[in-house]
Amino acid sequence: MILITTPTGDIGSRVLKRVLDTGQNVRVVLRDPTKLPDEVRQRIEVIEGSHADRTPIDRGLDGASAVFWLPPGSPTAASAREGYVEFSRAFVEALPASGVSHVVGISALGRGWHHPAGLVTATLETDDMIGATGVNYRALCCASLMDNVLRQLGTIRDSGTFYAPTPGDLALPVVAKSDVADVAAGLLAGRDWSGVDEMPLCGPGDMTHDAMAEIMTEVLGKPIRFEQMSADAFEGMLAAIGTSPGMVRDYSAMMRAKNEGMDTTYATEVSQRQWRTPTTFRQWCERELKPAI
Ligand SMILES: NC(=O)c1ccc[n+]([C@@H]2O[C@H](COP(=O)([O-])OP(=O)(O)OC[C@H]3O[C@@H](n4cnc5c(N)ncnc54)[C@H](OP(=O)(O)O)[C@@H]3O)[C@@H](O)[C@H]2O)c1
Repeated sequence: MILITTPTGDIGSRVLKRVLDTGQNVRVVLRDPTKLPDEVRQRIEVIEGSHADRTPIDRGLDGASAVFWLPPGSPTAASAREGYVEFSRAFVEALPASGVSHVVGISALGRGWHHPAGLVTATLETDDMIGATGVNYRALCCASLMDNVLRQLGTIRDSGTFYAPTPGDLALPVVAKSDVADVAAGLLAGRDWSGVDEMPLCGPGDMTHDAMAEIMTEVLGKPIRFEQMSADAFEGMLAAIGTSPGMVRDYSAMMRAKNEGMDTTYATEVSQRQWRTPTTFRQWCERELKPAI
């Protein structure tokens, strides 16, 4: 039995579909079971509740041998520590007495960056907590997700502009959520791995935001430009959409660390282990952005 968290999320729903395709028994824990498509719900065991809470987690882990773990890092959490580390506390406490042998978790690039990096720092602390339980663990350390662009569908469609607090000519690794889900599902289905390790997941090539705008222009057939926003404007934008003050601070720290080289330093240090996932930004635009626009 494999327990899958966030089955309604972008990554979790893809992991669920791929694991079901391999014929394994699946259980999910989620807050609102009515969000699951009927044809999926009929094929799985469903536990209602948040995966931050001990009772649904105990029920979810009962008889499970593997877990897909994704701490959502809710923007309304008091801080990144609250949204990742404390969110995962009940799960980590329940793991040792459970029969779970393998956990695959969603994490972020940045190990070894010795400065505050907000969400990344909290994510890596969560990995350490899970790894210390003695379970076999793979942390899928994602570069920035290509799919983040979809958060700006409105401005891309209406004004042909997208924004980030990042210099337009800074090349950074990016990865598609669908590739992350493929790797997670593969690890959950074939559990021939052991120990605790990180798998840095980066797409086929690093991208600047200016190059992303050029590719979007070609794929969408209309001019798209990138505009760097200041850190203050970024923080104001996050606050305006209801992000808690602590999470605004932690998002900002993460973006600053990325600008200062966290992702590229990490990617260089572990280049021999780096997983270059297949989907290019152009393919992602064709498959995901163009239909969404
Ligand atoms: N964005 C990036 O560039 C980046 C980079 C590295 C790593 N990551 C990581 O990628 C993950 C994001 O995954 P995603 O894109 O699949 O997320 P997503 O599509 O936003 O889905 C979020 C999922 O979490 C659930 N959820 C949200 N708040 C919850 C709560 N308080 N209690 C229980 N469940 C809750 C949602 O369930 P409901 O249906 O109930 O709302 C949904 O299933 C995060 O762990 C993030 O740190 C992101």
